[in-house]
Amino acid sequence: MDISHPDLAISAEVVAKPLELAIVLPTYNERGNLASLVERLDKALAGISWEAIFVDDNSPDGTSDEARKIAQSDRRIRVIQRIGRRGLASAAIEGMCSTAAPVVAVMDADHQHDPALLPEMLAAIKSGDYDLAYASRFAEGSSTEAWGRPDRVKASGIANRIANKVTGVQLTDPMSGYFMLRTETLRTDAHRLSGVGFKILLDILATVDEPLRVKEFPLNFAARADGESKLDRTVVFEFLVGLYDKWLGRIIPTRFALFGTIGAVGVVVHMTVLATFLTIAGETLHGNVVTEFELGQTLAALVAMTFNFFLNNALTYADKRLTGFPALMKGWIKFGVTCSVGLLANVGVAAILVRFGVHEYPAALAGIVIGSVWNFALSSKFVWGRYGN
Ligand code: GDD
Ligand code: MN
Repeated sequence: MDISHPDLAISAEVVAKPLELAIVLPTYNERGNLASLVERLDKALAGISWEAIFVDDNSPDGTSDEARKIAQSDRRIRVIQRIGRRGLASAAIEGMCSTAAPVVAVMDADHQHDPALLPEMLAAIKSGDYDLAYASRFAEGSSTEAWGRPDRVKASGIANRIANKVTGVQLTDPMSGYFMLRTETLRTDAHRLSGVGFKILLDILATVDEPLRVKEFPLNFAARADGESKLDRTVVFEFLVGLYDKWLGRIIPTRFALFGTIGAVGVVVHMTVLATFLTIAGETLHGNVVTEFELGQTLAALVAMTFNFFLNNALTYADKRLTGFPALMKGWIKFGVTCSVGLLANVGVAAILVRFGVHEYPAALAGIVIGSVWNFALSSKFVWGRYGN
């Protein structure tokens, strides 16, 4: 065998050198961007011993297959394919926890982040003077012109200002998705990160006990290469959820708060449907076996339950969202069954309390709380359970 082959010589040298850097690339429908990105990483990271981890949420476009294809002939490439999960932040956390490299970077896989910055970022971390290096779209010398999205530039500016206020972090771009730190720093606090679709960098900065020494790198934020952005529709919502999670999430868990809020809106929906029904159809039903109230109440409960189901599916369980008619239908039925039992528990508890002399309103409230906790606990397991879809 000819061991003097230049490719073999390079790979032997790389393998002999201990792993220095891992690049975590969360992906969702990025198939067309992978091969060229790996090429750019290879060029930018010449002389550095690195690996890249694609964390793909089972993209329908076959991103995972494409990543595996590349990984077949390039041992520096790894793939984590997550089933029944969604979310940039949680994908980044899992990727960062999956490497043995002492330093890890997270970057977008759509070419908006220039890999040429990686060696400088790595040098900053290795110098020992900094705990975190990140690329800012809004620092001196940065540019967002090529991005071609003035609306997003503006939105990011506002989000950054709110983020700085709420978390006390002072950076020009805490919403950036391009950063690097020692894996140990990350692992120390990984269990305390929210991982809720929130901007992961801000989450890290706001979670650590000791403030991190941060080095900022100006970035020319490019336009996306292939495919489209996934953060558009939910970005504001996820941002608010993230802030809540950091603020009160430890006292009342974010998901339960969302579930409860949606439930409360559901009560309004119920009352509106009932009132509308009674005004419109009320008169015509006189003298029937089923009273207009019974019919109206049943209809209102069904509408409110359906409303709650779809809203929880879209928001509370955005990361485990059920899609497609059969899955939605199954979920809706399971949710209905869960909530019916919750209703029985609600009424049962309230009735017992009243019997024991508790005033009706606090008793009703206790019933509602117990019913909601039941609905939440059961539906999160059986309707939106990990592999339920
Ligand atoms: N695994 C996984 N799961 N990856 C995801 C998901 C998800 O649910 N959603 C998005 N990604 C991946 C994308 O495939 C891409 O590689 C990267 O995360 C960034 O997603 P984009 O959809 O391209 O985000 P963007 O360009 O609109 O948003 C930019 O600005 C944000 C701040 O305003 C990015 O730079 C973000 O990183 C940044 O936080
Ligand atoms: Mn992007």
